[in-house]
Amino acid sequence: MANLAVILKKMGKEISGFDCQEEFITDSLLKKNKVKVLNDLNFLPSAVDLVVYSAAHQGRENPLVKEAVNRGIKTISQPQLINELMKDYRTKIAVCGCHGKTTTTSLLAYALLKLKKQPTYLAGVPYFNSLAGADYFINKKDYFVVEADEYGVSPPNDLTSKFLFLTPDWIIATNIDYDHPDVYRNLEEVKTAFYKFFHKADLILNLDDPLQAEFIRKYSGNKKIITYGFSSSADYQIVDWQTTDDGVFFNLKKIGQFKISLFGFHNVLNATAVIALLIELGNSPASVKKIIEKFSGAKRRMEVVYNNNNFTLVDDYAHHPREIEATIKGLRERYPKRRLILIFQPHTFSRTERLLIDFQKSLSLADITFVLPIFGSAREQENDYKISSKDIAKATDKIYYIESTQDLLNKVEQIIKPDDVIVTMGAGDVYRLAEEIKKRIEKRKKHFGKKNCFKTDLDIKKDVDLKPFNTLKMSAAAEYFFEAKTRDDLIKGKKLALKQNLPLLVIGGGSNIALLNDKINGLVIKNSYQKLEVIEEKDGYVLILVSSGYPVARLITLSIENGWSGLEYHHGLPGTVGGAIYMNSKWTRPLTYFSDNLLYAYLVDDNGKIKKANKEYFQFAYDFSILQKTKEIVLEAGFRLKKDSKERIKKRAADVLKYRKKTQPLGVFSCGCFFKNPGNISAGYLIDQAGLKGFSVGDYFVSPVHANFIINRGNGKKEDILQLLDIIKSKVKKKFNIDLEEEVIII
Ligand code: EPU
Repeated sequence: MANLAVILKKMGKEISGFDCQEEFITDSLLKKNKVKVLNDLNFLPSAVDLVVYSAAHQGRENPLVKEAVNRGIKTISQPQLINELMKDYRTKIAVCGCHGKTTTTSLLAYALLKLKKQPTYLAGVPYFNSLAGADYFINKKDYFVVEADEYGVSPPNDLTSKFLFLTPDWIIATNIDYDHPDVYRNLEEVKTAFYKFFHKADLILNLDDPLQAEFIRKYSGNKKIITYGFSSSADYQIVDWQTTDDGVFFNLKKIGQFKISLFGFHNVLNATAVIALLIELGNSPASVKKIIEKFSGAKRRMEVVYNNNNFTLVDDYAHHPREIEATIKGLRERYPKRRLILIFQPHTFSRTERLLIDFQKSLSLADITFVLPIFGSAREQENDYKISSKDIAKATDKIYYIESTQDLLNKVEQIIKPDDVIVTMGAGDVYRLAEEIKKRIEKRKKHFGKKNCFKTDLDIKKDVDLKPFNTLKMSAAAEYFFEAKTRDDLIKGKKLALKQNLPLLVIGGGSNIALLNDKINGLVIKNSYQKLEVIEEKDGYVLILVSSGYPVARLITLSIENGWSGLEYHHGLPGTVGGAIYMNSKWTRPLTYFSDNLLYAYLVDDNGKIKKANKEYFQFAYDFSILQKTKEIVLEAGFRLKKDSKERIKKRAADVLKYRKKTQPLGVFSCGCFFKNPGNISAGYLIDQAGLKGFSVGDYFVSPVHANFIINRGNGKKEDILQLLDIIKSKVKKKFNIDLEEEVIII
């Protein structure tokens, strides 16, 4: 719509339009071209000759469009108007396909411009990188290039495919695939729409695409069909291709070698389609070759938005599994051997729901993927869908769900290392994160190569292996590390991290963490702050204040010795008081939480300030406390414990330990139960029933005693545990249709 508005403006029409308040990539284009944006969504100006509607805001059902109809003003849909505009041009070219049409349209328009053909063009993004300025309109009515969209005119009311309103002379097709579940029920319906469109013009078709090949086989019309692809019967046959640092070289049989400054096999195909048409239109291969080499891509298409010696930040519009896969493959060719960190924002609930499995598969192709909440469209109501981004992340431990931007930036900062390629991906507003990510990268960069870049009296060491500090005995190098022995150490550590902009991780007993990354950026504090004070004793109760680094085992022994009741059900729980509060550790027989007797705690907040928080603040629930979101550090916690007979307490504690000994593996390298119990079912039971007890990958195996315990024989490799976790998840999913979610903290 923005491009259309600009073209109309350039034609000399008076243009204004409506949109929601949110900022979009198109805003600057409208501003630059002085297209008036009206904010009052209830008011249609009086002097209007024509109202154009799009699919985004209810189409013809939009109140303003209805108002226009009432007033007798003419209304028209966006594709119909595009068709009106292109009618008078001598050569009208439409580029269609489920993926790659913006790049292909842009490349074609770019080439025609450089060939001095003065085309008018209308593509999905407002401008190319290679060209300054907006979409181009020229009164010389030779060429009109349009990106032909298969989306519906205005779902759910009008599902007619938009491109069916166009009347081009030529159609280029990239590929036919299943997308837009709110318009098409299945691939067959998508295919039918494309086939109908294909009957309208001469065709440049991709013979490698089975559905286009099928069309050609069955076609009985009289339009010209030119084919391209790897297939040996293609008119424009790609015979080989090779990726270099600055693009891809490829050979077309009997025509010669071409180069594009784009990456990925899919772009070789897109470029070949454009080359085919340009040659069919009478341009010499040599002139085409010279020009297409210079095209550096459309906005948000594998666009390098930042690059310094160590880090590369790329932005891409991919929002369909096939696009994700093609982009990742392209990035792998462009940046071989570099780690790929993907930040993906799914676009629309319906697409995420319908293509869930394919999303999971394609996103697993990156080394690490962070999935943000779904970016809905104006057409969808979140409440109508059960799906969320969490569902994508459930598939594998290479994909993490991240709810807030702040969390994401912290996480990225915590794991990035030189040579990483970080990619923001999706059709929503994920590209906006680039600025903040750049800042985090710059911050990180400052620390590289320096031996000790800050002065402090804390005994900070560099590159410390955390293996001794976690019970699963996983190796991971902490960039900076120190052991906090006092309250003051903890506070100083937090302040230092704030001052030096270092990500901070505090570990207690390390009994509920899995270090799936090799390196942890920033500061890691091992909390060994141990102190216990009896504040008061009255009315049969005792109030104790215990420090966060205090081992739970020691606290329970002391409680038993003193006849303090309330914690004995946690006998045998590894870890520290801080960790048990953070996780809200539990015992299930009977169901009791570590937090049950907590009254308040002293915390260091995210600004380094100390505060006292009472129990309600923590929002304790199964495996949850608010600390998991706020990242506040516990200093001390106050517990109110009931005085009881030592014998009774001892008996309860002994029963717990007996049950543990019977049902759980002891004296092994593990981090307790790895997955949360889904509802009332034991995850251990599910894994057991999936036949995985004793199953191993490398040094990691599922405990034969309790199947929710993963054990490290001692030297387990990361890829082994990742594989084991994937196997566990997929087997449980297959057998019970249940998605297991980690209970342990993945770092
Ligand atoms: N079960 C199996 N196979 C197994 C494991 C368990 O069939 O391999 C069955 C048991 O026979 C039993 C049922 O599953 O009928 C429940 O097992 P269990 O009593 O061991 O409890 P759980 O639900 O597996 C939970 C907590 C444990 C906690 C125990 C005891 C979770 C994820 N786990 O385990 O917590 O110690 O109850 O209260 O909530 C931890 O958090 O790290 C942890 C170990």
